[in-house]
Amino acid sequence: MQQYETEHLNMVLGSAAECTVLLKTNGKFPISGPCKIAAYGSGMRYTVMGGTGSGEVNTRFAHTIEQGLENAGFEITTKSWLSEYDLVRKASKKEFYKELKKEARQKHENPIMYMMGKEFTERDHDLALLEKNEDVCIYVLSRNSGEGSDRKAAEGDVLLTKSEVRDITSLNKLYDKFMLVLNVGGVVDLTPVMEVSNILILSQLCSDMGRVLADILTGKQNPSGKLSTTWASYDEYSHEGTFGDFNDNEYREGIFVGYRYFDTFNKKALFPFGYGLSYTKFDIKAGEVSANGSEFTVKALVRNEGLFRGKEVVQVYVSLPEGRLSKAYQELAGFAKTKELNPSESEEVTISFDLKDLSSYDEESASYILEKGDYVIRVGNSSASTGVACIATMDDTVTIRRTKNVLGDPGFRDIEAPCNEKNRGESKAEDNKNYQNETEECKSDEYREYKGKEKNSENELDGTDIKRIRIDINSITCEDVDYASDNDAIDIDPRIKTLSDEELCFMGIGGFNPNAKGLSIIGNAATHVAGAAGETTSQLTYKGIKPLVMADGPAGLRLSLEYYEDEKGAHGVNGTGMIPESMQEIMGPVAMFIAKLFVGGNKAPKNTVFKEHAATRIPIGTAIAQSFNLELAKSFGDIVGDEMERMGVNLWLAPALNIHRSILCGRNFEYYSEDPLVSGLMAAAITRGVQKHKGCGTTIKHYAANNAETNRYCNNSHVSERAMREIYLRGFEICIRKSQPHALMTSYNLLNGIHTAEHRGLIEDILRREFGFEGIVMTDWVMTVMDSKKSIYRNSLSNEVAKAGGDLFMPGGKKDYENVLKALKEGSLKRRQLEINATRVARMCDKLA
Ligand code: BGC
Repeated sequence: MQQYETEHLNMVLGSAAECTVLLKTNGKFPISGPCKIAAYGSGMRYTVMGGTGSGEVNTRFAHTIEQGLENAGFEITTKSWLSEYDLVRKASKKEFYKELKKEARQKHENPIMYMMGKEFTERDHDLALLEKNEDVCIYVLSRNSGEGSDRKAAEGDVLLTKSEVRDITSLNKLYDKFMLVLNVGGVVDLTPVMEVSNILILSQLCSDMGRVLADILTGKQNPSGKLSTTWASYDEYSHEGTFGDFNDNEYREGIFVGYRYFDTFNKKALFPFGYGLSYTKFDIKAGEVSANGSEFTVKALVRNEGLFRGKEVVQVYVSLPEGRLSKAYQELAGFAKTKELNPSESEEVTISFDLKDLSSYDEESASYILEKGDYVIRVGNSSASTGVACIATMDDTVTIRRTKNVLGDPGFRDIEAPCNEKNRGESKAEDNKNYQNETEECKSDEYREYKGKEKNSENELDGTDIKRIRIDINSITCEDVDYASDNDAIDIDPRIKTLSDEELCFMGIGGFNPNAKGLSIIGNAATHVAGAAGETTSQLTYKGIKPLVMADGPAGLRLSLEYYEDEKGAHGVNGTGMIPESMQEIMGPVAMFIAKLFVGGNKAPKNTVFKEHAATRIPIGTAIAQSFNLELAKSFGDIVGDEMERMGVNLWLAPALNIHRSILCGRNFEYYSEDPLVSGLMAAAITRGVQKHKGCGTTIKHYAANNAETNRYCNNSHVSERAMREIYLRGFEICIRKSQPHALMTSYNLLNGIHTAEHRGLIEDILRREFGFEGIVMTDWVMTVMDSKKSIYRNSLSNEVAKAGGDLFMPGGKKDYENVLKALKEGSLKRRQLEINATRVARMCDKLA
């Protein structure tokens, strides 16, 4: 391993416990050191490091949890069970793929595409547990998913199998020191195992997760992550809208996504948003709250009252007043993580936020508003464990930004909240007792005392710690968006002006060889860096416009590990790293051979000198979000940026910040949260880490309302303008305003009937004019061959994308180029628009390439 690899790996290993969430503890962990351990479960040998698809990373090594624990000095006493399980798994996997292949041939005209993202689901078995011969036991449960398919609310996936429930509950009874370890990228319904005393979400972190787990078991590292998505029994989640329909999905739940739904509609979470325990206990006291117009600063004092070093996350939620618009019970406004506190040590944290970022979108007046009334500011350590720190009153409704409605009609009205007014002044701390176990009570008394105080009576509030503030509404300014400037203000790059029509069209299409036959796909769409997902055109290097190289993420840099170079470019050697196992299964050896040629599995000539791209695997998006640590997120970005610089990649096709709308979305592991603030801040922090490196930028994706994988190329999301702006676009807005990523990727899906990639309202009006995005806009890797005959909507087209202000059609092929040229010649696409798009691309090439 080279020095940078060791440094990067050590950084990930040393901080990964921050991304893990301790859901339950009975105080029996940590243990004093490595010892004999009984270890069961699929995750021991079939450890999932991250999901499948473009989010994969081809690392130099990947240790299972079993290997990692052994390397850390543990003696695993259940090897015979694990070996028995190997046989069970082999047989059930065979069975699984047999059934799946049959299904694929019956259900889809393109069975290979049908297999994409279909991951093995656990099956029942009757392996007996071994006799108890040690004090410590773990059960590692794993789940996998990936792009192309959604998860199922079925046993072996979101639900536990009967065997899993049987074994986990038995082991919990048998061992005092038993921990259920979840090697998962998304939610599993833990209802049948809630009696288990110690539960850890290890998540999917890196290529040596056993090491991290060893550190956690022995207390070298203390988990300090919090849930970025609500964990509940499957039935409790909102089923107001639709999910998984082949053509149309209706987001009827509107803004009530995740905890906004649970809190407002009184649904019970097993573990609420923002929740997570520690080996130690913390006391949080809300301190001073001050306001300057709509900008608030909240201070809180955190004291480590337990016996272990640890970090705590202080969270501030705001309940907005019910007014003309229906509101969620509360919204996360800000958070801060302490440094590692020693026992008895304290730290004062400061959380600043602007109420403007919580404003509601009023479709009637096409503006963002803050309605008059009381804003209840809550401080605590989870969405269900807060106390009221301040009530800020707004005497009149103020308009924050005047815009225009551009997103179309979803065809229904969003659901509304039941009246929550009577609960609004209450502390949520009481609810917390459902989640905390006795030794872990970490609420300050003041919070609990406030339960039940009426918010409207000023007198009653006197004598409590709750501060009252009157917001100075005159100091809150309103912004009018200037849509008019549109395209006319752009100075066309002089080089672009001189291009022929043909050359201009090359600029808008990802690099392809005009003389080559066949498709441009990942692995062969880029010639400069092996395994890169694509690049911009090389046709205009004579004008000084060099190509930009793009490679995937978000769990690290996705490139071919081993490669060689010749006069035609860089070629990856092991093509299998680019094709998910489920697709390899149905392709068979001959098709695989051909596919490998496409994705970079070329046979190298004799005496070839092979080179390596050794990329580091960083935690999956959801795990990074769970850290609630923006500095840490930035350092993960820094690792990626450093490797991009070394390996010659200009744009990282990450971070991905779609909202966890449903726990069934197959790509949730890549995404951060059900909350737009967490998503936006995390993406901004990672962007800062990447973009501090010369020639490197992020590509935030998938813009927008891309929350499911079923028929993903042509699925139509029906979403109201309000829900789009408050939930699905807000994270993008936050990220852009805070970190100005160099690129953005539109999504495959349609929004209210229009492909997002062809949506001028989304791209020009909202992204560029309202959010002030200065980077380039590219499509997701749209391949016309991928559409299904059962789709009622067509795939997006390169000429329509260009017309809407989309700069790059990726990965780009001859047909895409011809479409643009044809539209240009026919006059349905103006040369001026192409020049504008090309100017943006050329400037980014100058900046990064
Ligand atoms: C994914 C994108 C990815 C692209 C390039 C697509 O299938 O949706 O997230 O960046 O491929 O690999």
